[in-house]
Parts: sequence; C-alpha cells; structure tokens
Amino acid sequence: MKAVLAIAALSAGCGEQPAEPAQIAQGAQLYAQHCASCHGAKLEGQPNWRIRLPNGRLPAPPHDESGHTWHHPDRVLFGITKYGLVPPYAPPGHQSDMPAFGGKLSDAEIRRVLAYIESHWTSKDVLAARAEMTRNIKER
Ligand code: HEC
Repeated sequence: MKAVLAIAALSAGCGEQPAEPAQIAQGAQLYAQHCASCHGAKLEGQPNWRIRLPNGRLPAPPHDESGHTWHHPDRVLFGITKYGLVPPYAPPGHQSDMPAFGGKLSDAEIRRVLAYIESHWTSKDVLAARAEMTRNIKER
C-alpha cells in the first residue's frame, strides 16, 4: 500500500497519469536501442563507473538503484536525456559522453524511456526518497 501511495505521489508531481504498461514496454524497446550500449542491458552501467576514464570523462552510470539516477527529479532526468549534460545539468564546459537525444527521440519517447528506467526503482527507501523530492519541488 505504501508503495502504491508513493507511486501516486510521484506521478502527481508531473501532473501526468502513471505510465501504462504499454508505454513502459515501448520504453524498454527504446532503452535497448538507444541507451543499453552504454548504460547496460540490465541498467547496470559501465564497470568502475565512479572512476574517470583516461580522457578525463566519466563512464556511464547504472540506472538501477545502485546508481544515482534516481536521486534526480523527473524534470532533471528529462532535461539530461533531451539536452545532454550541459548547464544547468552540469557545470559549463563539462566534457561528457552522454549524447543529447533531443534530435533523435520525441519528448513522449524520452518520457517512455524514463518510465521504463523508473519502473526498476521499487525499494521502499528509493520510492520514499523520490516521493519526498517531488513534495519538496511542489512546495518551492
Ligand atoms: C554513448 C554512451 C551513452 C548513451 C548511448 C547514453 N548515455 Fe546516458 N550517460 C552516458 C555517460 C558517460 C553518462 C555520465 C556522463 C557524465 O557524468 O559526464 C551518462 C549519464 C546519464 C544520465 C545522468 C545520470 C546521473 O545519475 O546523473 C542520465 C539520466 C542518462 N545518462 C540517461 C540516458 C538515457 C535515457 C539514454 C538513452 C536514451 C542514454 N543515457 C544513453 C553515456 C551514454
């Protein structure tokens, strides 16, 4: 029941209906096509993702609960995926291998990929943290 409430709170944050299973399934296909090569077929990320590569860039982090993707509110995840790691999502001049998908995926497709990723966040702590984040944003 708690989890259901948390999910309701989450989706209320962006004023949208919770993602339908069909949308999540489409998100899974888009993820496999556009994200899995770097973020891993199982959302596991690249090995040693916290350690910079020889070129100074960061490897792709996991999108499962072991990463920090879930620490970001929905609109930040949307912005990073659409525009890449540019300001305000990263410091000016940040060099990153994360592509901007704005020209490749529609806004609806980006939302579906993110809904697929978010469907992997199921533990009580993560859901509670995200529900609180959504509340804080609304109160601002
Ligand atoms: C060419 C490799 C590559 C592909 C393909 C890719 N990413 Fe990334 N992504 C990265 C890297 C590398 C980072 C970390 C970059 C950094 O911090 O500079 C990243 C970071 C991110 C972050 C920020 C995570 C955080 O915790 O801050 C999000 C969100 C993200 N990617 C989503 C996506 C989505 C969604 C897709 C598919 C539509 C995708 N990425 C495809 C390489 C990739």
